Amino acid sequence: MPLEYGTSVPFVTLNDGVQIPQVGLGVFQVSPDKTDETVLEALSAGYRHVDTAAGYRNEAGVGDALRTAQDSLGLTHEDVFVTTKLANGDRAGGRDAALAAFDDSMAKLQLERLDLWLIHWPGSDQQNFVEVWKTFAELKEAGRIRSIGVSNFQKTHLRALFDETGVVPSVNQVELHPWMQQEDLRAFHAEHGIATEAWSPIGQGGDLLADETIGKIAAAHGKEPAQVVLRWHLQLGNIVIPKSVTPARIRSNIDLFGFELTDEDMSAIAGLERGQRLGPDPDVFG
Ligand SMILES: NC(=O)c1ccc[n+]([C@@H]2O[C@H](COP(=O)([O-])OP(=O)(O)OC[C@H]3O[C@@H](n4cnc5c(N)ncnc54)[C@H](OP(=O)(O)O)[C@@H]3O)[C@@H](O)[C@H]2O)c1
Repeated sequence: MPLEYGTSVPFVTLNDGVQIPQVGLGVFQVSPDKTDETVLEALSAGYRHVDTAAGYRNEAGVGDALRTAQDSLGLTHEDVFVTTKLANGDRAGGRDAALAAFDDSMAKLQLERLDLWLIHWPGSDQQNFVEVWKTFAELKEAGRIRSIGVSNFQKTHLRALFDETGVVPSVNQVELHPWMQQEDLRAFHAEHGIATEAWSPIGQGGDLLADETIGKIAAAHGKEPAQVVLRWHLQLGNIVIPKSVTPARIRSNIDLFGFELTDEDMSAIAGLERGQRLGPDPDVFG
């Protein structure tokens, strides 16, 4: 759970003792040729956590930014938490495909050791996710990865991992925002010591940010709607990875620590739940 809220980003301690910054930059849909400059912008704004995936085709840009940041910002890999994800095709290929995919991601990221590797989707056919999970555990055991987790896993998928391997993921990264609050899954995570990471945390920057309730809370605190939504996540204990290629937004999306939502604000946002996904349903995707 978060340590304490000061002016800088707190850490969440995962079930294996690894600490992950509670705010990171997501780079889905950041074009490969803009990824380097976008990640450098975020690092200079104070981000110390980047979320990419093999499927985003921009791991090399993240790797280039990390290398440049050593000289320009004096940051080493020890300072920056890096997550990537195993693509669906390689998950379906089982152990050998997963090992090859890991080496490929590491070469692109230019890293010796990864902070967090996620199975991107369980797959509608649920092909091989248990076998691949054992491969993840092997790589962690061998010291190649600090933490292992999953993404888009429902309770049934998580139970299959527990039952068949006994290895509990450190993180489950799922779609989560005020219109899709995942209350039941969050409670299940809490019960089993899994950290909840929210993708599309600000609802993809769309109509959610124009919601009247969010707007009123933002006006009362003198903040932007996106900052209110991100602060709501932080107060729930979620890890967030908002994406932006816009420098001013990159900065405001991490400027979340000089204010606090009241219990009334939190309840009002809880009341916005619609069970509305903006992305694919994990039971039928991939
Ligand atoms: N595991 C998965 O299956 C999965 C799926 C989807 C996403 N993700 C991860 O989650 C990250 C975030 O999700 P997401 O990219 O889908 O959605 P998001 O972070 O909720 O929203 C990103 C969109 O909001 C805009 N935006 C950013 N900051 C804003 C602000 N302060 N005010 C208004 N608009 C703002 C961005 O525009 P500009 O960029 O033009 O500023 C972009 O269009 C991804 O980058 C990825 O790392 C994971």
